[in-house]
Order: sequence, then C-alpha cells, then structure tokens
Amino acid sequence: MSDIAPTPRKILITSALPYANGPIHLGHLVEYIQTDIWSRFQKMRGNTCTYVCADDAHGTPIMLRAQAEGITPEALIAKSSEEHQADFAGFNVEFDHYHSTNSIENKELAEHIYLRLKDKGYISRKTISQYYDPEKKMFLPDRFVKGTCPKCKAVDQYGDNCEVCGATYSPTDLIDPKSAVSGATPIEKDTDHLFFELSQFEEMLKTWTREGHLQEQIANKLDEWLESGLRGWDISRDAPYFGFEIPGETGKFFYVWLDAPIGYMSSFKAYCDKSGLNFDEYWQEDSTTELYHFIGKDIINFHALFWPAMLSGANYRTPTAIFAHGFLTVDGQKMSKSRGTFIMAKTYLDHLNPEYLRYYYAAKLTSRIDDIDLNLEDFAQRVNSDLVGKVVNIASRSAGFVMKKFDGKLNNKWTPETTVLYQSFIDKSEEIANLYESRDYGHAMREIMTLADKANEYIAEAAPWVLAKTEGKEAELHECVSISLNLFRVLMSYLSPVLPVTAEKSNAFLNLPDGQWNDIKTPLMNHEISKFKALLTRLEMEPIQKMVDASASSLNGASTAPDGKKGDQKVKLAKETAVKPEFEALAEEINIDDFAKIDLRIAKIIHAEAVPEAKKLLKLTLDIGFEQRQVFAGIKSAYEPEALIGKLTVMVANLAPRKMRFGMSEGMVLAAGPGGNDLYILSPDEGATPGMRVK
Ligand code: 2FM
Ligand code: ZN
Repeated sequence: MSDIAPTPRKILITSALPYANGPIHLGHLVEYIQTDIWSRFQKMRGNTCTYVCADDAHGTPIMLRAQAEGITPEALIAKSSEEHQADFAGFNVEFDHYHSTNSIENKELAEHIYLRLKDKGYISRKTISQYYDPEKKMFLPDRFVKGTCPKCKAVDQYGDNCEVCGATYSPTDLIDPKSAVSGATPIEKDTDHLFFELSQFEEMLKTWTREGHLQEQIANKLDEWLESGLRGWDISRDAPYFGFEIPGETGKFFYVWLDAPIGYMSSFKAYCDKSGLNFDEYWQEDSTTELYHFIGKDIINFHALFWPAMLSGANYRTPTAIFAHGFLTVDGQKMSKSRGTFIMAKTYLDHLNPEYLRYYYAAKLTSRIDDIDLNLEDFAQRVNSDLVGKVVNIASRSAGFVMKKFDGKLNNKWTPETTVLYQSFIDKSEEIANLYESRDYGHAMREIMTLADKANEYIAEAAPWVLAKTEGKEAELHECVSISLNLFRVLMSYLSPVLPVTAEKSNAFLNLPDGQWNDIKTPLMNHEISKFKALLTRLEMEPIQKMVDASASSLNGASTAPDGKKGDQKVKLAKETAVKPEFEALAEEINIDDFAKIDLRIAKIIHAEAVPEAKKLLKLTLDIGFEQRQVFAGIKSAYEPEALIGKLTVMVANLAPRKMRFGMSEGMVLAAGPGGNDLYILSPDEGATPGMRVK
C-alpha cells in the first residue's frame, strides 16, 4: 500500500467567549487549555485548523460595571480584552484570532442573520410584563432583582432561582423585591419584545441532536427539553442596554446571547480578511469544512438548540459538533474565594509554570462532561513524577554522556533490538493521535507515560553509567544514550500539544525545527545535539501555598469573619512546617533558578577512611555513576568509616573543587544535624542509583 498523505482537513474551532467584565480564572482555563491542545494537535497533523475566540462584550452587567467604574463600556471592554489576551498568552493558549463581539463585523453579521430570520417569518413580537427600576429608569434582568424566596423564605435571593432551596421562579414571585441596581422597589411594566420562534425548528432539532453532533449525555438531556416543546426565545432588550440596536426598531437591542455566538463567525471573518481564508467556504450551507465549538456544560441550550436553529434558519451551515466539558473543582470543592481556591489566571502565573497546569488538566480530561478536580497535592506529585521524573529525566540522564564522550553526536547504527524498541514507540502513534482526536487526553497521557516507563526501564537495564566505566563498551554506550534521546524525542513529540513551550525547548536541545506528528518516523541518526538545559523543574508545595495565600488575600477583606479575622484561607498542605526555636534560622531565601544551579547527585560511598591529622574529617571516595570523586567530609565524630562503605548518600556534585591540606575535595556530602556526633548523612530511598540527579 502506498503511503499517500490524506487530504488535510479544514477545521474551524472556537472556545466560549469570556465576558468582558471579569478576569480569567482556573475554571475558565479548563476549556481554553482543552481547545488549545486540540488546535495544536490538529495543526501538527497537517490539517488547516483555525482557532478563534473573542470577548463577549455586551449586556447589562457590563454596562453597569462600566458605570460603577466611572468609565465608558468601550473603555471597560478594551481593558478586559487586553487582560484576557495577556492571561491566555501566559498559558500558551494560541488563538489564530481574538476579536470582540462589539465589532463592526459582528454588528453586520448579527443584523444580517436577524433580517434573514425575520424575512423568513421566524421573528415574532409579544408584549411582556417585566420589572422596571423607577429610579434607574431601566428594565431589570432577572439577576438584578433580589428578594425573599417565595418557597423557603430565604432572604436576599436572585430573581430567577433560590440558592438556598434551589427553587426556580420568575422575579415577580419574589417577596419584597428590590432592584439590585438602586435598591428601589421595582414596578411591573409592559414592553414589547422580539422572539425567535424556536418551535418552527423542533423537527430540525430533533434530528440534528441525534445525528452525532453531540455527546451522548448532552443529547439525552436535550431530549427532555425537546419533548416538553420549545417556546419562542426572547432576543430583544430595552434601552438602556450596551449592545447593537435592532434594525427597524427604536430603543431595542439584541440580547447579548443573540450576538455572542455570532461572535464566532465575526472573529473568523476578521481573520479571513487578514489571512486570505475564504469565509463562505467555511460557513455556507453545504460547507465541507468542519466546525467545532468547545463549551462548558452550563451553556448547552444556547449552542445545541438556539445556535443551530439560528444558523439553519439563516441558511448557514450548522456545527459539526459541540464539545462540552464539566466544571472545575479545587481539592474536591467548588472554587472558593475564602479558601483561596478561586484562583485567577494572573495569580497562578505569578507563582507557577503554566505547563504544569496544562499537563494536569490534560491528564484529567476525557471526552465526557464530568467535572474535573484540581487536587493541589496530587497536582505537584503528578507533575513531578510524570514530567520531571519520567520524561525530562531521560534526556538529562543521557545528554551528558553524548556531550562528554561523543562530541554531542548521536550514533548512526542500531542493533535489531534497539530498532524494535524504537519501532514499538512509533507503533503507538496512531493510537495516541486517536485519543487526542477524541479528546481523551487523560488516556493519551497514560499511554505516553507507559512509554516513558518503558524508556526508563531500558536505561536502568542498559546502565549507561556502568558502560561508561567499562572499557570496550564505547559503542554500546553510544547506542544506549542515542536511543534514549530518540525515545525522549518521541515522547516530547507526543506531548507537544500539551506542553508547547517545553517541546520548543526540547527541540532547541535536540537541534530540531518545530515538528509535525509524523516526523518521529525518521529517527535521529548521526545527529548533533546542543547542550542540555533544564526543561522543567520540580513543582514544590511552597509556591502553590503562596498562590493560594495570594488568592485569599486578594479578597480585600471579603472573607473577613465577623471577629475581624481572615477566613480559613489555608489549604491544608502535606506537611506543617513547625519552626521550633532550637532550630537554626532559615537561610536567605533563594529562587528556583538559584536552586537549579545546585547539582545534587546520588553518590555511593565506595571507600572511607579517617584523616589522622584532622579532628573532624573523613576522606570519602564517591561513585556518582559516570565518575568517582574524592571528598573530605566533617563527619568523623558521627561515623565509623567502615560503617559508611556501600551506603548511598547525596552530594553536591558541581561545587568547585577545593584544595585542602590533605588533598583536593571534589564536592560535598549532605548531612543534617547540629554537629558532633549528632550528625546524619542523607540517604535516598531504595531504588535510587549513583549518578541520579536530586531535584
Ligand atoms: O457563559 C459565558 O461566559 C458566555 N460569555 C459565553 C458565550 S459563548 C458564545 F456563544 F459566544
Ligand atoms: Zn428558597
């Protein structure tokens, strides 16, 4: 069979448009990271994939927020757009275009779609009675009326549902209603509204929702709605309103949810204008391109009922699929401001590397709509054990040998066993691709980590640190480290939709251009690499705690309990660091880069003897895998030399050699304790081997 590349697909994807009146938080990021991974994956596969988004800039909350800040809505949305885009860029979410629903393209398309729907008889007019704020002279959306729940009598509930008993009702059912804008008692007032006649799309939607465009759980949910019959959807709002005025009407505006999904089209339109892509090819009724919307499960009705109906009513294509995801919990609970788990994107970025979160979310995401939990301890453990311990470790273990012993060059001949091992990694390519395609990222990550385990097992068995010390094993060593780096390259290629920046660094280390999915089919032979630099460092609990503390303290007193103390913002982290007075004072704070400069290695003490002329010193010979070191250690009063021989410990391997009276000391062994016989050298857990880097 010939290996003809399939025709690239033309794909347009979107994430839900964030409202322009609030910052991006970790809950939002589930979706943007999920979509970005998919977009990067599609691009790596050679498809033409366009990922667009925009700020959702209209509506009453945005108008009122701008008033409260004393600025125009335009100034507010400009500021939000800038902040949102900085947050997304910070998390390496790469849109092809980011627009605004308050744009000329969106105005034109919203008017055009509305007029088409109207021409075809899908728009009706009805008089409704709505609460009106006599002081602010405005109609009040349900969420802007507050009062006592008619069912359980809980006070201060919103006009659409009760947060205490869960009852849903209309604002006019509230006892003692008040305007949340001015505090005035609202009055009921009649007004004409425009409706999109969804009932005319009932048959179309019954078919569409069962044609494979939706996840099963969603299609089942929508059945309930469809069975109970669809009513007209209210698409107009009265002035004052921040939005687009409806053509042919005075003082009536499109409801924000009418022009929000049209924002997907208009963002793409703006992108077409600058990139030369053909807008009609993607949106015409019989388009053969693919269109996917990634959304949260709370906005399904807008995307899986109203939106396909609007599109089909206006003679546009409908989405190929809607991909809904669940909500985020942190440590098993709803994100909470007082617990410090309502974490803004910016706060996260102030403390942690975005790639950690991208990996953790990927490891948790499935194609279903179940909620995902960010457990902060599990987060650190997963990142450290998978990314740092399993993947990056492969490169750091092999790179040194390639540089020192083989002038930075990989070998060019593999034994059949090595070729088979490499092939077994390549054989997983389509399976992993299918898992990305179906958004089973968690499963994909598990497959990749199984391969990483396999690579590490191979290295442990081949023991390059032993080969390096054995004469006549040069070729074997060269092959071992060359295949290890080739396996690392495959793993990084599989991970690159999730870890774009780490993949970029890895490509720089391996002297490779940005890769396509199939590049790994050609292994790196006789290939020169660059010096290895740390790709990812360990994730510690300390910066996580700092992020939580910062999130709690950014509340500006909102969590202040009646006694004036802050709420329980401490997330219980693994170990309480009790500082006892007899302990030495903490040394000056260093940052992670300072720490990364210290090269700690597992060392085996292969010889130990007392230095007769020195009261405190033992002379140790240490094996660190690739070489031996002589170190003078001040532990004479705590250890008999013989007792140390064969022990594993930890040494600082990159300490500049010091000339001592008794000879050169080429490093330092780590020990804890005040001194004298109260001194304890550090030993690793079973399984560690000489030469491993301690991180
Ligand atoms: O729920 C939200 O945050 C909306 N701003 C999402 C809009 S998605 C699309 F329809 F525009
Ligand atoms: Zn209630």
